[in-house]
Amino acid sequence: MKFFVDTAEIDQIVELNDLGMVDGVTTNPSLIMKSGRDFIEVTKDISTIVSGPVSAEVVATDAGGMIEQGRRLANLAKNIAVKVPLTWAGLKACKTLTDEGFMVNVTLCFSANQALLAAKAGATFISPFIGRLDDINLDGMDLIEDIRAIYDNYEFDTQILAASIRNVNHILESARIGADVITAPPAVIKKMVDHPLTDKGLDAFLADWARTGQQILWQSSYRSRVSYTPGRIYSKR
Ligand code: G3P
Repeated sequence: MKFFVDTAEIDQIVELNDLGMVDGVTTNPSLIMKSGRDFIEVTKDISTIVSGPVSAEVVATDAGGMIEQGRRLANLAKNIAVKVPLTWAGLKACKTLTDEGFMVNVTLCFSANQALLAAKAGATFISPFIGRLDDINLDGMDLIEDIRAIYDNYEFDTQILAASIRNVNHILESARIGADVITAPPAVIKKMVDHPLTDKGLDAFLADWARTGQQILWQSSYRSRVSYTPGRIYSKR
């Protein structure tokens, strides 16, 4: 499964990229607004930090405008994926831009019928929005499941890029279903590591180790600073 980071915040992208956790980045007009930065400049910066696909969204609503904006964005860097909305104009732009050899991410997908159209238009990625379906009391994971089944039936190449991810269960369920990619806010990706039994177990190991009075590195300059203090939490660093 590929991990894309859903943000335009450079520092957060770098932090996760240094951990090998970034296979790509997705942005949208709301994330660009939140970043407070120039869209073209921040997109260029992200595309130099991350080697994988960087999704940059057009804001035109007509096919001609989307195509013109898409070409401009795609020519910023080789790893740009042009994001277009799931409308007929977006599908026309998707067909034209993919025929020209550009990557296209069709976004704002909320039904399997929409996803079927995007695959037929040659989309590189389809972005079904899980969280926004949950917001209206539907189950966003059902959509991921339906798209996976349909794409597998007909061997569509379009990659399912599960989006609008709000919690770690969305990531887990997307992996179970077989989404090709998830795109999530940095905070949600970071939360995947948390488990109270891991913290508890590490504290117990370190407390018992402290009681042995032993050192792994005996050189004086590396003398361990860990000495057992009853009740102290050792795992949070
Ligand atoms: O990539 C799409 C994502 O940014 C939308 O997430 O939480 O605004 O539905 P959200």
